[in-house]
Amino acid sequence: MAESDKPASRFSRRTFIKTAGAGAAVATVSAEAQEKKPECLGPDAETLTLSVNGAPRQVTVEPRVTLLRALRNELELTGAKEVCDRGGCGACTVLMDGRIVNACMIMAWDAVGHEITTVESFGTPEKLSPVQAAFVECDGYQCGFCTPGMVVSCTALLKKNPSPSLDEIKAGLARNLCRCGTYGRIFEAVGKAAKAMAPVKPVKSMPAGRRE
Ligand code: FES
Ligand code: FES
Repeated sequence: MAESDKPASRFSRRTFIKTAGAGAAVATVSAEAQEKKPECLGPDAETLTLSVNGAPRQVTVEPRVTLLRALRNELELTGAKEVCDRGGCGACTVLMDGRIVNACMIMAWDAVGHEITTVESFGTPEKLSPVQAAFVECDGYQCGFCTPGMVVSCTALLKKNPSPSLDEIKAGLARNLCRCGTYGRIFEAVGKAAKAMAPVKPVKSMPAGRRE
């Protein structure tokens, strides 16, 4: 059979080399994926490092433990409260990378690599933060159980919107419930904190020799 009469092969040397190259690439990718594949966790407790209030903190917890329980039971940061334990009340509010989250809805292991900020970092009994001071001045609590979560959400709100309207305050606190119904005073406290945190406007100096 003449060379030109031979049926064209489905696989040329060129396609063989291409296929082999692609196969090698897939093998490399899957080897990398294999390396990155998370280890199987649990059921025993493992030690992990959380970044809490700017410092690395080690906790030894089972994979089923929430961030809230790790903060409260392992690190003794009891500001965030466990109330509903199902993401419905906001009593456990903390900041994760600056955003408000319900710590009862996040597993401690999933918080690794993120910056967690709790209410304990905002102020001290001797030196309250402006939001904490405004809650005290406005009597913005009764039982106080919702207060730490409210303070975290208010602080995050004022950082994003330094001069919120009443509707914006209500929207900013929509994830936080107060069973004592102290909303009016809480909203007042946010307004007061906003004023306290507002930058002082520079006083205009009069041109020399001019009086008004
Ligand atoms: S305890 Fe987390 S939202 Fe209620
Ligand atoms: S002050 Fe009691 S739940 Fe808000």
